[in-house]
Amino acid sequence: MKAIILAGGSGTRLYPVTGAINKHFLPIYNKPMIYYPLSLVMLLSIKDILFIVNPEDLKNFQKLFKDGSHLGVNIKYKMQEEPRGLAEGLILAEDFIGNDNICYMLGDNIFFGHDLVKIMEEAKNDIEQNGGAYVFGYSIKDPERFGVVEFDEKGNVLSLEEKPKKTKSHYAIVGMYFYDNEAIKIAKNVKPSERGELEITSVNEEYLKKGKLKVKLLGRGFAWFDAGTHDSFLEAGEFVATVENKTGLMIGCIEEIAYKNGWIDKKQLLKLAQPLKKTEYGKYLIELAENSLVLGASNAI
Ligand code: TTP
Repeated sequence: MKAIILAGGSGTRLYPVTGAINKHFLPIYNKPMIYYPLSLVMLLSIKDILFIVNPEDLKNFQKLFKDGSHLGVNIKYKMQEEPRGLAEGLILAEDFIGNDNICYMLGDNIFFGHDLVKIMEEAKNDIEQNGGAYVFGYSIKDPERFGVVEFDEKGNVLSLEEKPKKTKSHYAIVGMYFYDNEAIKIAKNVKPSERGELEITSVNEEYLKKGKLKVKLLGRGFAWFDAGTHDSFLEAGEFVATVENKTGLMIGCIEEIAYKNGWIDKKQLLKLAQPLKKTEYGKYLIELAENSLVLGASNAI
């Protein structure tokens, strides 16, 4: 499986903050927003990762992640000329994906919870073996801001609606999807919606029509943030700060995950920590390298 992380878009809901800076570089507490979705992809042991980026931001993404080899991953970039919608990323990634299955991740989504990786790995394995698509539902107060999923007691999806005025359930579809390779062909046939975007909901609806869409619910033990508004951005940062300061363990620390996955060794980790050594982040990495047993229990998200 390969991963696509969407990091383009216009970020209008964060104006004027995003007037001159792409939101994915903004800090969620102590690291750039984009570290969090990347960390989840790495926790799923996916090494081939494509970032979809706006042309004006390409250089900065390259500065941040280079080719990924320092983290033991293989990072590529693809420019999206205009933010034409979430489904366009699938089309732009065609060459990168080849014949593989797809982990599709929104760059402004932040997840946290016990067994999150296990749940997502089950979905990933199911797609690898049986094909189809997976979405994840999360109960929230204001689901009308998102795609909403309705399902029966067995977890079969009954309907999907993009930003409905009247919602049929409280479950928003979060920004993490798994698809078989068919998704690229499906995305190519999607017509722009009323707001002029290629909607990811249209791709999911197509899987639903074929009876190949599955949903997993993320229950009360999970936190999910779409950090794309001023309030949710602040909330996400406060959440990360609270959990990290309480537990002494970091959320979304990509160097830690690379190390624990065995993709980089102690020497490489210390080299990454060196320029950061005056920060708590750098000290954390040094502590991890020199005394990994203390921090070894965390699954880092
Ligand atoms: P959104 O938050 O739906 O859109 P946006 O980032 O343009 O922000 P706003 O609605 O405030 O204008 O996008 C979800 C994620 O997908 C986000 O990380 C940006 C990314 N994205 C793209 O990469 N390309 C696109 O065409 C769109 C619409 C979003």
